[in-house]
Amino acid sequence: MPLIEIKGLRKIFGNGMGAVEALRGVDLEVAEGEIFGVVGLSGAGKSTLVRCINLLERPDAGTVSVAGRDMTSLSGRELRLARRSMGMIFQSFNLLSSRTAAGNVSFPLEAAGADRVAVRTRVQELLDLVGLSDKAGSYPSQLSGGQKQRVGIARALANDPRILLCDEATSALDPQTTASILALISDIQRRLGLTVVIITHEMKVITEICDRVAVMEDGSVVEEGPVAEVFTRPRHPVTRGFVETVLKSESGLLESGYAPKGRLLRVRMTGDAVQSPITGDVARLFGVSPVILQAHVDRIKETPFGSLLLDLQGPPDKVEQASAWLAERSGTMLVETLN
Ligand SMILES: Nc1ncnc2c1ncn2[C@@H]1O[C@H](COP(=O)(O)OP(=O)(O)OP(=O)(O)O)[C@@H](O)[C@H]1O
Ligand SMILES: [Mg+2]
Repeated sequence: MPLIEIKGLRKIFGNGMGAVEALRGVDLEVAEGEIFGVVGLSGAGKSTLVRCINLLERPDAGTVSVAGRDMTSLSGRELRLARRSMGMIFQSFNLLSSRTAAGNVSFPLEAAGADRVAVRTRVQELLDLVGLSDKAGSYPSQLSGGQKQRVGIARALANDPRILLCDEATSALDPQTTASILALISDIQRRLGLTVVIITHEMKVITEICDRVAVMEDGSVVEEGPVAEVFTRPRHPVTRGFVETVLKSESGLLESGYAPKGRLLRVRMTGDAVQSPITGDVARLFGVSPVILQAHVDRIKETPFGSLLLDLQGPPDKVEQASAWLAERSGTMLVETLN
């Protein structure tokens, strides 16, 4: 059974002519212990979706079940308790400026009625967990963005949630700080066995730490699957756009006027295929000359990922055989002819 199960979720803001359908029937399942990413352009409905998971926003139709319980059917008190099993972090950190780091982390504990001694011990533990013990007495204005988000994470974890919801948690941070916060989320996910839902408009965040991804456009999920799969074989134009942002401009050389002499091939591979000498292999086996126009090697979580743009030159029948051989070589490889 999935830990989070979303069925036919709809949310409409406003009414009449001004009505905005933010969610148009979203179905999603998030398994226990996974890091699930939701990526989409601004206005796609990502924040609305995540706010419907903890019922900060009440859906107009559909259900959200967490651990088998329909959140939409809970009464006020039950809902408050259920929300405690979900921590949330935000782009703007949402810290109380009048409270120190420790004071911010203790806030949800006090609200849940924990006694003073227990609060103090727990706050210390949480600040240790996020690597911020030395900043317990600092106010938000005295902390960097990355440190503020660490406080946000500690606060979100205060009541031992099973689920961590992250809405653009790294969008206000520079790339290096983003990497350190993502590493922290990944580390605590493993240590605490959390289930994490990450909302972002950055594909890099998805490839860094997510296991599965859903791509949203205009209130709907348009594509979904394991990150490596969606990344190597993006089907929807929006997904392709996001993949391109990570691969940088694959067609850079072409745009600058390069005229291919042979077949223009885009080859994407994951896993062991990345480490194999495919350009050497096709040259040797088929007597063709692959000109590498662009190469990109990276990681999707722990899986190696590679992308090549080749101008495969040679006799047409050999080029055809070489392309077919490349396409059949591995189940995880995408071979696309661009010209
Ligand atoms: N409280 C609200 N009242 C009216 N319209 C809203 C409200 N919240 C969201 N919307 C609208 O719903 C749509 C989805 O918004 P949402 O904030 O979920 O998008 P998003 O994918 O999170 O975008 P971003 O990447 O910019 O954060 C948008 O058209 C937005 O204007
Ligand atoms: Mg948003």
